[in-house]
Amino acid sequence: MTSIDYAARIPNNVDLAADRTLQRALEQWQPNFAGWWREMGPESSQGYDVYLRTATGIDTEDWTRFGYVKMPDYRWGIFLAPAVKERKIHFGDHLGEPAWQEVPGEHRANLRRIIVTQGDTEPASVEQQRHLGRTAPSLYDLRNLFQINVEEGRHLWAMVYLLHRYFGRDGREEAEALLERRSGDRDNPRILGAFNEPTPDWLAFFMFTHFTDRDGKFQLKALAESGFDPLSRTTRFMLTEEAHHMFVGEAGISRVLQRTCEAMNELRTDDPSRLREAGVIDLPTVQRYLNFHYSVTLDLFGADQSSNAATFYGSGLKGRFDEPKHADDHRLHGETCEVLEVEGSRLVARRVPMLNALNEVLRDEFIDDSVGGVERWNKRIAKTGVDLRLQLPHKAFNRRIGTLAGVKVSPSGEVVTQAQWNDGAPQWLPGEDDRAFVASLMARSIEPGRFASWIAPPATGIDGKPVDFDYVRFG
Ligand SMILES: [Fe+2]
Ligand SMILES: [Fe+2]
Repeated sequence: MTSIDYAARIPNNVDLAADRTLQRALEQWQPNFAGWWREMGPESSQGYDVYLRTATGIDTEDWTRFGYVKMPDYRWGIFLAPAVKERKIHFGDHLGEPAWQEVPGEHRANLRRIIVTQGDTEPASVEQQRHLGRTAPSLYDLRNLFQINVEEGRHLWAMVYLLHRYFGRDGREEAEALLERRSGDRDNPRILGAFNEPTPDWLAFFMFTHFTDRDGKFQLKALAESGFDPLSRTTRFMLTEEAHHMFVGEAGISRVLQRTCEAMNELRTDDPSRLREAGVIDLPTVQRYLNFHYSVTLDLFGADQSSNAATFYGSGLKGRFDEPKHADDHRLHGETCEVLEVEGSRLVARRVPMLNALNEVLRDEFIDDSVGGVERWNKRIAKTGVDLRLQLPHKAFNRRIGTLAGVKVSPSGEVVTQAQWNDGAPQWLPGEDDRAFVASLMARSIEPGRFASWIAPPATGIDGKPVDFDYVRFG
């Protein structure tokens, strides 16, 4: 096991003590981070003792320790996955050259932009989720929320380390700016759209962690291929934490479905208003939330045709998902792939140079992965005997970025007029009424082992503890 120096003010496995200037710069940023956490981290949670896992090493079998921690005392630090000996750049125009240990001058601006864009999403999600503790459906869920929040905080540390260590003064300025932007702020918002949307309730939270944290997984996987070795190593370690976030989302929705289907069976009805009266979330509402979070997350992959994507790949900065598994020359000059375009009132596939369409390639991999998630949810529904099913909407539905932003498309993929869109939207996307209903269910349920009416308990607890364990102590 590569151990982490926990005696240091900033726990790390990068031998921070050997670089005094860097250490001092990060130690100056540290209180600003703590101030941001106090202001924008989980609301009124400073004194809680939370049963959290903390990284103690970086090897997968043995990197966590569970115990009660007050969140402001969580040991955020800098952890990189082990270096791969003599690692080579394995895609793009530098293929075969040794991976970079320092930032190559000609790629500096692009690399910084990639790191800042990734880094900005980490504090953003903490800000989006800061009020959710008030309405947690159980202690178990409250703990999971807090676990995700502290780990997103650590992901911010990961990106800030790269900025401080490799980008000098402008890196330090970017690190400050990461603490200054605010999710949803009119004047100084977070960089990407989905990270400025509110996460007002727990159904939105579970959809967010299922879909939007999954976007995080795909972006991190693409960056883990990077020819800039420190970025590859830091994102590889971040991925070990991301799996839990997606678990929380997938299992959370699964438990909502379980509870709703049980009520449908008990009451022998699929009438949304009767189910709502019974205190569960009707499946059409779950579907509308799914449509919203999925489509907003698809936009995070960027424009379908993008010269930046081509540059990032060609220069070896950002690869594809599981780059080595692709059976091609990993340079992609002359390769093509299909993107969707609008022709009159139809969507048609058109072949374009693959290098320019790498955002679309990554988006399509995400879609495949999301199909699997929905199938698992539908299995859960099927097991209860209920015959409704959830579906992913068409990828052109409700898009704001790229070619498809210019057209209105129904969830089933038909191009529709503005008037048809206006008619359909209340069935397709959560409306004020849906949000108000879901909000009306949100109430804090914090007695150990108790769960809100709209969600089933999980099958097992965290870290082998029972479901009714006191995961959070309020002190
Ligand atoms: Fe993250
Ligand atoms: Fe995450």
